[in-house]
Amino acid sequence: MVNLNVDFCGVKFENPLVLASGVLGVTAGSLARVVELGAGGVTTKSLWRQPHPGHKNPVMFGTEHYFMNAVGLSDAGLEKGIETLTELKEKTDAPLIANIVAAKIEDFGSIAESIDILQPDIIEINISCPNVESELGKPFACSRTDAAAVTKIVRSRTRLPLAVKLSPNVENIVDIAKSVVDAGANAITAINTVGPGMRWNIDLCSPMLANRVGGISGPAIFPIAVKSVFDIHAALPNTPIIATGGINSGRDVLEIMMAGGTLAGVGTALYYHGDDFWKNAKAEITEWLDENNFKNISEVIGIFHKK
Ligand SMILES: Cc1cc2nc3c(=O)[nH]c(=O)nc-3n(C[C@H](O)[C@H](O)[C@H](O)COP(=O)(O)O)c2cc1C
Repeated sequence: MVNLNVDFCGVKFENPLVLASGVLGVTAGSLARVVELGAGGVTTKSLWRQPHPGHKNPVMFGTEHYFMNAVGLSDAGLEKGIETLTELKEKTDAPLIANIVAAKIEDFGSIAESIDILQPDIIEINISCPNVESELGKPFACSRTDAAAVTKIVRSRTRLPLAVKLSPNVENIVDIAKSVVDAGANAITAINTVGPGMRWNIDLCSPMLANRVGGISGPAIFPIAVKSVFDIHAALPNTPIIATGGINSGRDVLEIMMAGGTLAGVGTALYYHGDDFWKNAKAEITEWLDENNFKNISEVIGIFHKK
């Protein structure tokens, strides 16, 4: 029998597949359902202290190769977030990753402190959304100093394991990863969406997204995610990574774990494959591990680096 359990910052996951932030994870019911379908853990969408409206519709579209979204981090604010997390903890024991966001560096501290009271298993800090630039400016993940400052302030308000979610849209993601680990992060999530990008409808002469620009996710960004995870693991072999970005099959999960991921974040694949994704990916992973004589999935983490 193949063992799919993984340990991530001392938290036990039944399998390494976790729901990525913002995709389906809106209500406690939808998050709990993802666990029932086979996810090892779930991430909430980004939680704000105050209600945040997000962008106007249309906010999303998909093609054969990628999705683009400009949801704009819409959220009902802390009161609703607390309700959702409390209800979710009653529904499932699966590890819960609470993703937080704020517009100003100092505001990350207060949202982290409020979320800490609910004791999720891990806090993920979103400093890397590329579709809110017109509103919030360049993401903090684009600057070593800003990324470290956010991490430091959150670190001072909670003892929970912290994963900082990084952007691929930078000159050197490894430099940013090092700076957040030096500032107290326990883990890295890599990557958020790529871009921003832009598409237009030529018949209507109108942009595909009301916001005009959006973040790119799905299969087209998988090679960027694999390289980001590979480079971060090479530089920081003892820092676990929630490897995310374009994962679309069980084989993709194995590949990105072999590049250095400990968990595998899955988002856009659910738009392509629906509810069956979790079951099918796990079956594909188990079969491959069995055929290749691995007893534990954790044995594959980072094996590309030994080649
Ligand atoms: C519709 C949509 C909403 C998202 N919302 C969030 C969010 O609220 N917070 C966040 O950190 N990332 C958010 N993301 C980014 C995903 O968590 C993930 O990092 C990215 O989509 C790449 O993974 P994927 O290709 O598997 O979707 C969102 C992505 C999509 C497609």
